[in-house]
Amino acid sequence: MDKKTIAIASDHAGREMKEDLKEFLESIDAEVVDMGVNDDKSVDYPDYGIPLAEKVSKGEVPRGVLVCGTGIGMSILANKFKGVRAALVSDVFTARMAKEHNNANILVIGGRIVGKGLAREMLKTWIEAKFEGGRHQTRLDKITELENRNHK
Ligand code: RB5
Repeated sequence: MDKKTIAIASDHAGREMKEDLKEFLESIDAEVVDMGVNDDKSVDYPDYGIPLAEKVSKGEVPRGVLVCGTGIGMSILANKFKGVRAALVSDVFTARMAKEHNNANILVIGGRIVGKGLAREMLKTWIEAKFEGGRHQTRLDKITELENRNHK
């Protein structure tokens, strides 16, 4: 696998899975930007998700992973950022489609929903998959057009 840069962040409910996914990413030689949280004290997920989504939106990192309890809160906030396509996944097929069809640049996982083995498999699949472009790009262009309209 190529050298990949990937930012990762979680709240307390996703911290254990974040640590496990970080270890996995390092084992495949990815460059990991760990944006917290780093202990189990209860925190507000936007405090960790927003900085990561902003980094992806600005193009400072090409991709990121967010983990909270269900993945829902992190998904909601990440998709408010221009250029962010965050996909909440809990199966391998969806993780692959998230890249092939949606060119998702943030993968979101519910740390209280899926096991670590499945989470690693979904992450690996998403990283290795390739965006198919073509008709899927046409569809993404329509979303970009919507973003541009809303950000005027
Ligand atoms: C924290 O208890 C929990 O609400 C959070 O991790 C996440 O699931 C929110 O969507």
